[in-house]
Amino acid sequence: MEEQLVRYARAGYAGLFLCTAEEARAEAEVKAAAKELGRNVHAWSISTGMIDTASGSIHRCYDPVEALEAIESLSGDSVVVLRDFGALLEDKDPLLVRKLRETLHHAKSAGKLIVLVGVGKTLPPELEREITRIDFDLPDREQLATVLDAITDSATLPAIGEPDRETILDAAGGLTTMEAENAFALSVVETGNVEATIVAREKAKALKSGGLLKVVDTPAVLDDIGGLDALKDWLLHRREAFTQRARDYGLPIPKGMLVLGVPGTGKSLTAKATASVFGLPLLQLDAGKLFGGLVGQSEANLRSVIQTAETISPCVLWIDEIEKGFGGVGSSGGSTDGGTSARVFGTMLNWLQDKTKPVFVVATANDVSKLPPELLRKGRWDELWFVDLPNSQERAAIWHIVVEKYGREKTAFDSVLLARASELHTGAEIEAAFVEALHRGFARDREPTELDLGEVLCESVPLATTMSESIEQLRHWAKTRARHATHADKPANGKRKLDLS
Ligand SMILES: Nc1ncnc2c1ncn2[C@@H]1O[C@H](COP(=O)(O)OP(=O)(O)OP(=O)(O)O)[C@@H](O)[C@H]1O
Ligand SMILES: [Mg+2]
Repeated sequence: MEEQLVRYARAGYAGLFLCTAEEARAEAEVKAAAKELGRNVHAWSISTGMIDTASGSIHRCYDPVEALEAIESLSGDSVVVLRDFGALLEDKDPLLVRKLRETLHHAKSAGKLIVLVGVGKTLPPELEREITRIDFDLPDREQLATVLDAITDSATLPAIGEPDRETILDAAGGLTTMEAENAFALSVVETGNVEATIVAREKAKALKSGGLLKVVDTPAVLDDIGGLDALKDWLLHRREAFTQRARDYGLPIPKGMLVLGVPGTGKSLTAKATASVFGLPLLQLDAGKLFGGLVGQSEANLRSVIQTAETISPCVLWIDEIEKGFGGVGSSGGSTDGGTSARVFGTMLNWLQDKTKPVFVVATANDVSKLPPELLRKGRWDELWFVDLPNSQERAAIWHIVVEKYGREKTAFDSVLLARASELHTGAEIEAAFVEALHRGFARDREPTELDLGEVLCESVPLATTMSESIEQLRHWAKTRARHATHADKPANGKRKLDLS
């Protein structure tokens, strides 16, 4: 950041907007840049007036317009930090906007640099071209390490050795310095030490408060998924694709995959297991919430999501039910919301295509007809997967998994029989049937039997029968455009000949 500021100043920029909640850190960067440039820094806020940071002398101009006037009387090569100006400009006071424009012109000819520091608000349109907005990056590993050292020092704890230190810094990635400091300090208060798990917990809270991203703490692994062997093989082949060894070998960083398919067939489960395969943290994006109420908010939302994911990277970013966020962009995007969703979608596509940071995106969707075709182009993803209804072998595997999940021996039931009885059922429906049988067994104070399960299955109407038309359409669509998550030599369609060997 410091270097970037130096470059802007050397290039003669007069106005910058450092968009951040981390005022202290941003100002430290500005001061470091000014030092490098051999310039003096003045800092103004509505409560302190203008302070010459070198001499400590104060000019008592609390009014923003007066502050701008004061800038004009400063010496030629000053750097001026204006705190909270973004918020003050929110009111769009014409006098203030006018005065700022004039001061910027003056600054430009006099070689002064004005830096607005504050949280991410949009600037009035008159100023957008005069002021360059810089999204202030979250602290990197080295900066977080400095914060960690400061906390262990002040708590007079022994230095944290490897690999714990690395794990803690991993857990703190994506936090602001203030949040990291708080999380480290809280951990010391709670446990007497800095624990990665507590830092991760605090991070999950910090991200949650933004509402768009949350850290999913999931124990799901590939063995929890019945079937989908082609997809599993594919993932296993990429298990080490995020390691340094893979970079040294010259492997490109995997971009991500889109998983399409019938509801309840394990798409979300696959997304969770992906993070375990790679051994990376899992972030879940709520695509529906991206489209915030205010104009310009959605784009800012997406920018902050991308920034957080890249800072936390390497990580897996899971966009569940992507059609909810980006569905209908093609058809209604331009007319219903002034093109916002189309623009946000464009930003998303560009990022998917061009991202260089190791963020593996797993998107899931049930309904391709709602998705804009650009998103379905194969080049955007490493692979486009189609998950069909489980075939008989897959159903048998799912029965085993479900039975064990609820604490029963998998040998307690004949999985081949159950697979046959649950034709056309999805994994989610198989699980629901088993839970229902458990209820029935519990009510009669005995273990559920195959007969109970048969009864439940007979009574339930699988989604595949009520939705047969849309499933057929999805299959037809996927035939030539997506890869089947189940190996081709195994029939995937329950209607074909059953293979019970
Ligand atoms: N292939 C499978 N193997 C094991 N369990 C499964 C499988 N498919 C589904 N399940 C069970 O059903 C639950 C729901 O599945 P999941 O949420 O992954 O489905 P989905 O495809 O994401 O559905 P939706 O499209 O409705 O979001 C899982 O938590 C799991 O318990
Ligand atoms: Mg799902």
